[in-house]
Amino acid sequence: MSATIIDGVAIAKTIRAEVAEQVAALSAHGIVPGLAVILVGEDPASSIYVRSKGKACKEAGMHSETIILPADTTEADLLATIDRVNADPLIHGLLVQLPVPAHIDTDKVLRRIDPAKDVDGFHPVNVGKLVLGDPTAFKPATPAGIQQMLLRSGVETRGAHAVIVGRSTIVGRPMANLLIQSGPGGDATVTVTHSRTRDLAGMCRSADILVVAIGRAEMIGADAVKPGATVIDVGINRVDDASLPKGYRVCGDVAFDEVSKVAGAITPVPGGVGPMTIAMLLSNTLQAATLRQQGR
Ligand code: GUN
Repeated sequence: MSATIIDGVAIAKTIRAEVAEQVAALSAHGIVPGLAVILVGEDPASSIYVRSKGKACKEAGMHSETIILPADTTEADLLATIDRVNADPLIHGLLVQLPVPAHIDTDKVLRRIDPAKDVDGFHPVNVGKLVLGDPTAFKPATPAGIQQMLLRSGVETRGAHAVIVGRSTIVGRPMANLLIQSGPGGDATVTVTHSRTRDLAGMCRSADILVVAIGRAEMIGADAVKPGATVIDVGINRVDDASLPKGYRVCGDVAFDEVSKVAGAITPVPGGVGPMTIAMLLSNTLQAATLRQQGR
């Protein structure tokens, strides 16, 4: 293996410590940043995420509220709960864990969250601000985390060709918007590819920075990577593996073993992008509290 490993666990730990320091400073002025997480139903993976978010808040010295609603909660009741949290002065950041049950309209839910508390950055107001390069925009946690990994690993984005595989509203599109902004962590030339792209491997081979977020196990092989490129793997997939006690293994969207022989730097799965998301959520909650203090 020749690639440098970009250690998401270590970078996330540093960011969480930086956030905790700033939370302590703000708390000394009587402002304790507060995050509320609403979970509808008992999806096991979502329940784990929500518990981790609450624990991370407390470790950073933040106020944390977790609101768990039954799976048969009506859309009207969920919207009323959002209204109540929107009005709660102790809460600076609010997110509704996705996915919500099928009888609830996700767009309606996301649009009901006060944009000033929308620490996921999914509300159209924040999406628009991000496109415009407004510094008060909340950046969605996954692409914001990737940008921090690039910055903190010394990967030059300015003038680089960044190819993003996947056009989701949670990763691909906001990632493109962050990388084309002017300034540190931006100034890249960006190509967004997707399931209809012709010659995907050829496109990927032209990337200095390759961000893969398609949700297909080990789809990107060494033939799609330019020697020396930086490869960021957003995928988390379970693949059956009878030789393991659990019966499965976790892997990314990138074939790590072969790509790490070609790439200059690469994020592992697990231990890459994953740990960054909670760190950035904490950072966004701190940002929400700071912006409110500044009256912005
Ligand atoms: N479910 C999976 N990822 C996310 C996320 O980033 N935010 C929310 N609200 N739900 C999610």
